[in-house]
Amino acid sequence: MSAYQQQYQWAQNEPEQFWQAQAQHIDWFEKPSTILNTDENGIERWFPDGLLNTCWLALDYHCEQGRGDNTALIYDSPVTGQKIRYSYHEMRDQVAKIAGMLAAQGVEKGDRVVIYMPMIPEAAMAMLACARLGAIHSVVFGGFAPNELAVRIEDAEPKVIMTASCGIEVNKVIPYKPMVDKAIMDSRWKPESVFVLQRPQLQAELGSERDIDWQQAYQNALPHACVPVLSTDPLYILYTSGTTGKPKGVVRDNGGHAVAMKYSMSAIYNMPQDGVFWAASDVGWVVGHSYIVYAPLIHGCTTILFEGKPVRTPDPGAFWRVCEEYNVDVLFSAPTAFRAIKKEDPEGKFLEQYDLTALKTIFMAGERLDPPTLEWVESKSHKPVVDHWWQTETGWAIAGNPTGIESMPVKAGSATKPIPGYQVEILNELGEACAPNQQGFVALKRPLPPSCLPTVWRNHDRFESGYLSQFPGYYVSGDGGYLDDDGYLFIMGRIDDVINVAGHRLSTGEMEEIVGGHPAIAECAVVGVHDELKGQLPLGFVVLKDGVKVDDLQLEGELVGKVRDEIGAVACFKHALVVERLPKTRSGKILRRTIRQIADGEQYTVPSTIDDPTSLDEISKALHSES
Ligand code: COA
Ligand code: AMP
Repeated sequence: MSAYQQQYQWAQNEPEQFWQAQAQHIDWFEKPSTILNTDENGIERWFPDGLLNTCWLALDYHCEQGRGDNTALIYDSPVTGQKIRYSYHEMRDQVAKIAGMLAAQGVEKGDRVVIYMPMIPEAAMAMLACARLGAIHSVVFGGFAPNELAVRIEDAEPKVIMTASCGIEVNKVIPYKPMVDKAIMDSRWKPESVFVLQRPQLQAELGSERDIDWQQAYQNALPHACVPVLSTDPLYILYTSGTTGKPKGVVRDNGGHAVAMKYSMSAIYNMPQDGVFWAASDVGWVVGHSYIVYAPLIHGCTTILFEGKPVRTPDPGAFWRVCEEYNVDVLFSAPTAFRAIKKEDPEGKFLEQYDLTALKTIFMAGERLDPPTLEWVESKSHKPVVDHWWQTETGWAIAGNPTGIESMPVKAGSATKPIPGYQVEILNELGEACAPNQQGFVALKRPLPPSCLPTVWRNHDRFESGYLSQFPGYYVSGDGGYLDDDGYLFIMGRIDDVINVAGHRLSTGEMEEIVGGHPAIAECAVVGVHDELKGQLPLGFVVLKDGVKVDDLQLEGELVGKVRDEIGAVACFKHALVVERLPKTRSGKILRRTIRQIADGEQYTVPSTIDDPTSLDEISKALHSES
């Protein structure tokens, strides 16, 4: 039996023994005596009576072990020209003071703190400071508009918000404070205080009495110690797009998360403790939570926090420059980032300028790694490239090539095999197992391994109805795919209304709600169409109310502006086409899949349930006149 098979079967047959063994690798305040039980909702919970603190594991523990002078975090910011290194001692001391700063505002264990910050070290420190207090952070991606922030504030009900005066995108400074003010104004929940970190590029006005100058508060703060929490206490809430306009608050616990993070660093990424790990993502996404902040620090590595883009900051050599400069062992990003590099540097000329000897493996996730991108990165970098599949809900990879256990041959288009702890099955609509190579719902047999969500924040029914009730005993991932004859998993895309734009998960349902709210629109459909660079882009089809006369271009501009204002620039909603009617089934369901197939120029079969087949011509006609 191969090393992978051994571990996989151990985790499958004896999950409690397997995870008890993995739990030995973290420093508990009190080791759990129970490894797995179920909570009042009947959901599996890991290490329920263990006591720990995730900030302790990420920082203090390493200082205690004599590794305090090792570099914990490197901030590299081509957009500001700054490069700063923080040792574990420095990080611990600063985080302890930020925790003190929060405690002075009354933040305690279980309180929520919303963090809306750009990619600066203080964003990671703010997260760790919450963890230190046992407070629950909810980081909101800086590319989201005030409305999205307001929705999250209303749901999480934070005592405090932490922000900065601005974010910096390519060639533009984005003021954050006015967006926070607007979000608070629009939200029914009001936080008691807002910490604002002033950046030299743009100072924010601190007008309201709840505003606190971060730097001043920091000066006056007393360091705070780590507060022990139960393994099952929440570490954070991270909102992610679902099928409706309201995002889902994925809850992550402390204990299961820490154990899974630690295990993944060895099993999946094969990282040495003193290695350098770089997840080129954003702290606003799950990749940033797990692999910029928590996992590398819990493992004792150096993590890189990069405030820049793969291209234009200043050129498509940025990734390779950082890899050389800091001897990065593992680079992790989304395929879209490499497609952007490939577009600007197809021959890999920039890459050739850098010494990538230290770089061992390139990992990709966030969207399917398309074979041409895989091939390009492999052939230019001469490094192993690993696709791995996961979700906000799990916090770590469900399937991948576990390079720390055994590197398996790569099959282009496949995320390789289930990681030990996950039982991946492909089910048909009746919940029956599909044969190899037959596509179906990608489902995970319960119990789910540590780190997977136990609930949706304050909405357990949504967890049950959205993930668990379709197939009893299984978690439904929302992705479609198949297992081949060798047990390799191929993820073929979402089967719900979620799309993936430049590795960012967005809801077309939410966009439809916004577009449909325009006074001229009777009904609409938004679908994700293929895009060479970003993987998918949203495209709207709208039907006007009877008697409404508008200029199509002006309407398109208004709809684009509306989505940008309400979701944010990151939605990349740029086009809306007017049609006479939308293709529907006889029962009135919009045929979004068929619309997308037509827009992508794919072969499609006219659904037998279609009400009026000529409505399909409407779609083609609109696309034709657009191009
Ligand atoms: N704060 C404010 N605005 C932001 C933002 C942030 N943190 N991130 C993105 N935006 C804005 C951009 O400025 C852009 O605005 P514009 O329409 O006014 O130009 C818009 O949102 C779209 O951004 P993006 O999708 O990032 O497009 P881009 O053309 O600037 O860059 C890529 C394209 C592929 C280079 C970029 O998306 C990328 O690096 N992706 C990596 C993927 C990734 O990190 N995924 C996370 C999961 S692993
Ligand atoms: P997020 O929760 O933002 O991480 O997005 C999760 C979704 O992104 C998954 O449900 C998939 O649809 C998609 N995804 C992430 N990684 C991969 C991958 N390696 N291959 C295919 N799809 C992926």
